[in-house]
Amino acid sequence: MNPLKHVAIIMDGNGRWGLKHKNSRNAGHKAGLSTVEKIIKSSIKNKIKFLTLFAFSTENWKRPKKEINYLFSLLQSFLSDKITELNNQGIKLKIIGKKNFSKKLNKLLSSSENKTSSNTKIQINLALNYGSKIELINAFENVQKNKEKINEKNIVKYLLTKNIPDPEILIRTGNTKRLSNFLLWQLAYSEIFFVKKLWPDFNEKDFDYIIKKFKNIKRNFGKI
Ligand code: FPP
Repeated sequence: MNPLKHVAIIMDGNGRWGLKHKNSRNAGHKAGLSTVEKIIKSSIKNKIKFLTLFAFSTENWKRPKKEINYLFSLLQSFLSDKITELNNQGIKLKIIGKKNFSKKLNKLLSSSENKTSSNTKIQINLALNYGSKIELINAFENVQKNKEKINEKNIVKYLLTKNIPDPEILIRTGNTKRLSNFLLWQLAYSEIFFVKKLWPDFNEKDFDYIIKKFKNIKRNFGKI
């Protein structure tokens, strides 16, 4: 059976779900947050050590201001209300991406990271204002600046995911088959599961099914 440490998820389909059920894209984001909570619990149950969630991409700034503001207000109230509970559950929160939000949100994100930094049950990497290409450009620039040799080891140490094993599984919900500038380096050998369901409809049973399927895949890594 394949060992499993790290699951990455592109949580797609909130907008469509919200429009379909409540005539509001934002309602879909709210429902998506409940799925996030369920999948965190399920990851702990499955003894997964790292869960990386794509919450906001560098491209998502192109969305209407109203939707962007709603997403950040949702995140802000979630962290204000739940960070103590998350901390008590042994969850370590790490933001991957550039924190250039409001002063208040930046502060809340940093304090949430600091508060949970010594927890070891599971690490949640929240990809916020994250883009893989800019992450890679920054890594290459650091290698060059420090006059180091360009090799895997030196590039990896400047990625936002340094010290985190690559995801064995990528899940994308929402019936779309693309990577959307997410962890392009780190997903080189991941098993990819594209799910038709929209993110708010994704549940623990779907998650368990994927994990079970993954555990029985023959992973070759280029060998035969
Ligand atoms: C993609 O669905 C989802 C997002 C851009 C945001 C993800 C956010 C959540 C799951 C909400 C909870 C999390 C936080 C951190 C507040 P989409 O809007 O692109 O859906 P669509 O493809 O149907 O338009």
